[in-house]
Amino acid sequence: MTLTETARSTATPIGGPSLPQERKLVTTIPGPKSRALSERKAQAVSAGVGIALPVYVAAAGGGVLVDVDGNSLIDLGSGIAVTGVGNSAPRVVEAVAAQLAQFTHTCFTVAPYDSYIEVAEALNRLTPGDHLKRSVLFSSGAEAVENAVKIARYFTGKQAIVVFDHAYHGRTNLTMGMTAKSQPYKSGFGPFAPEVYRAPMSYPLRDGGLDGVEAANRAISQIDKQIGASNLAALVIEPIQGEGGFIVPAPGFLATLLAWCRANEVVFIADEIQTGFARTGHMFACEYEGIVPDLICTAKGIAGGLPLSGVTGRADIMDSPKVGGLGGTYAGNPLACAAALATIDTYESDNLVERARAIGTIMSGRFTALAAADLRVGDVRGRGAMMAIELIDPATGAPDAALTSRVIAGAHAEGVILLGCGTYGNVIRFLPPLSIPDALLIEGLQVVADTLAKA
Ligand SMILES: Cc1ncc(COP(=O)(O)O)c(C=O)c1O
Repeated sequence: MTLTETARSTATPIGGPSLPQERKLVTTIPGPKSRALSERKAQAVSAGVGIALPVYVAAAGGGVLVDVDGNSLIDLGSGIAVTGVGNSAPRVVEAVAAQLAQFTHTCFTVAPYDSYIEVAEALNRLTPGDHLKRSVLFSSGAEAVENAVKIARYFTGKQAIVVFDHAYHGRTNLTMGMTAKSQPYKSGFGPFAPEVYRAPMSYPLRDGGLDGVEAANRAISQIDKQIGASNLAALVIEPIQGEGGFIVPAPGFLATLLAWCRANEVVFIADEIQTGFARTGHMFACEYEGIVPDLICTAKGIAGGLPLSGVTGRADIMDSPKVGGLGGTYAGNPLACAAALATIDTYESDNLVERARAIGTIMSGRFTALAAADLRVGDVRGRGAMMAIELIDPATGAPDAALTSRVIAGAHAEGVILLGCGTYGNVIRFLPPLSIPDALLIEGLQVVADTLAKA
């Protein structure tokens, strides 16, 4: 039985630990064992590490997380869009276990191994465009973005980078500077890397009715005036913004920017770290508008939960850095590569692109009905299994972050793992694992609707 078929059957437990696919609360959330661990955390772990929901996990699989108190919670977050194939997905576990028994590390740049090449071949094949491509692997998303910028600068001999309002690209120094939101990501952590410039995004709910081409021309005009294409190495953009609020730009925005980049020898870099790997109902979100980026950054959903990221793109750009210019001790670690190969095989053989679309149909149907009944739901947006609702004050249209926090806290208390996002803190995002059974997804969405009605 494929993962997709299994996911549809609530009778069959799935996931490595074969967990019952149910929401079951045996204590209040968080329970006593989790609370005790939170106290230990406070003594042992930096206070700078925040926690969305302090239930400590004992096992996870399919569409549930089971905590140390024995509560079984519905997972609508996938560890922030990572476990697309599910937690401890059996084929991933098997592949990693086999690799574990062979060797755990050599450093690819010291003594290489074939699985790294195989992952690069898969990325070259799967990413948009049939041009000649090359890939390079790293461990985290931020590292992929940093390296895409490095490569674009080396190739063009230019230095400036353009990013967008509401962007999120990571927490390292360069990517923190590329990220838009000050709290909690940037404030007090500067100074930031130079030569990073911000342009206005297309945000259909909040940019006064600009269509995609108009919004792109507004950005291009600002880039022209404030930077100049002759200084600009790359434009970096999420095709659907993640942390910034699941903002889907108006049609034509990405295509107009891409055309301008091509005409001006600016490298177009798509950050598909959150949107990639079937999540949006295409293997990559760029495919919705036929966008073929020069470089594409991937991570998160690539390896079933093991740390792996990549930069893939035009061979002439990717081959430009000097030998030895790219790498990293753990970059393309063999366990992560084994996991990625099993994960990618699962996306393809189980047709999880189709599964993401089916999940999207379930979610958008419910959210649209919710928005019709409750004017505080100001927007429903996203694609496939990456959807969000934006909560507002219906009288003014102003973002309602307090309501958003109440809904998220209420859902947590009822055993549903839910994540917020958005520059204004008023967006609830839904990123269920593609392995979640329909019945569990629907139950989780109903809990959120009930919680909103009471909030
Ligand atoms: C679009 C995007 N880019 C980059 C990153 C950074 O990835 P990582 O946390 O693996 O460094 C994220 C993480 O949420 C992301 O969503």
